[in-house]
Amino acid sequence: MNSRRKEDRGKGKGERGQSKGESPAHSFPLSSNRSVLPFDPAEFTRLLLSWYGRAGRDLPWRQTRDPYRIWISEIMLQQTTVAAVIPYYKRFLQRFPSVQSLASAPLDDVITLWAGLGYYSRARNLHRTAGKIVKESGGIFPNSLDGLVALPGIGRSTAGAILAIAFDQPAPILDGNVRRVLVRLFAWMDDPRGRNAEKQLWAWAEVLTSRERPHDYSQAIMDLGATVCTPREPDCGICPVQRLCRACDRGLVAELPLPRKKARVPVRRQAALIIKKGQVLMLRQRPAEGFLGGLWELPFVDVPDDLSPDQVASRLLANLGLRGAPCKLCDVRHAYSHFKLELAVYKVDVESPDLVAEGDGLLWFGGEELTSLPVHGAHRKALEKLVS
Ligand code: ADE
Repeated sequence: MNSRRKEDRGKGKGERGQSKGESPAHSFPLSSNRSVLPFDPAEFTRLLLSWYGRAGRDLPWRQTRDPYRIWISEIMLQQTTVAAVIPYYKRFLQRFPSVQSLASAPLDDVITLWAGLGYYSRARNLHRTAGKIVKESGGIFPNSLDGLVALPGIGRSTAGAILAIAFDQPAPILDGNVRRVLVRLFAWMDDPRGRNAEKQLWAWAEVLTSRERPHDYSQAIMDLGATVCTPREPDCGICPVQRLCRACDRGLVAELPLPRKKARVPVRRQAALIIKKGQVLMLRQRPAEGFLGGLWELPFVDVPDDLSPDQVASRLLANLGLRGAPCKLCDVRHAYSHFKLELAVYKVDVESPDLVAEGDGLLWFGGEELTSLPVHGAHRKALEKLVS
């Protein structure tokens, strides 16, 4: 086994649309209409599995069939590369070796362990789902599509991966990597995320899924997408299914998948304060539920169109009952799935910070405590500027 090329992450949705964004539940078991394909699916499976035997990756979650461990790995691998996931996966399972231990842990512990992996709704959903599994089914994982997609954070493709990998059921998957493989294999010449694509790609995924070796098949097709059929510079020369690939045949590999038809996302302007007293600075925790729930952040406010970020930053400081002269540190840009953030960051040193009028939840942090705190992405970028 080897991992010759930098792998691609199964690209997908942002923080907001994460949990159920994959696709609605569908017909399962698999349809048997294989006659519509331009090649024999048995040939595809044979070539793919034979390649997987030679080149498949040796990954930590491939040494188990425990649905709990497979579930953790699949959630971590959403939107995240294998290389980034491995250390988190190992640490997570050391701290939470069973669904019971995860369910009984404080949410803050789970989020702290997740710090740096991004898309924190995944951590909150893991915690909620563990609670549900322990409470409602005595810690036993569901082994059906309906049972799995009813759980927080598990969409159709993740459910398919768990069914195939942990339970060896012929359930199709369609994560970002598999989507790209199918788009090229069948030369899909439309928006790869459009409604038509959704229907057609799932149908192809279903028809190709191996009935004999679903456990290996699902991991083989993900590996092919991650290591050979990559977004840029795919290595068609070593692709085991090159001779079946329509995009390759028609010279379209570099063009496919076509760019997505994207909706315009709004821009939000905000100003944030890094309030320092010596070596400590002020942060507050977001409410546990909702967008970026449970994460820590700098005090910030929206910047209305008729005010400048400088004005807003000074007012924010005054509203906190503090005196000082905020000084511009940097601008941070951050993209979320449903808006783009333009954040003006100010630094201010205060001497007597005991008057915090609207400072509910604001606390002082420094040293190691500050480093290990799960601060959300945009504000973490601002804090990195402070030390750089
Ligand atoms: N991406 C998502 N699931 C994966 C898995 N089980 N192995 C490798 N890459 C993946």
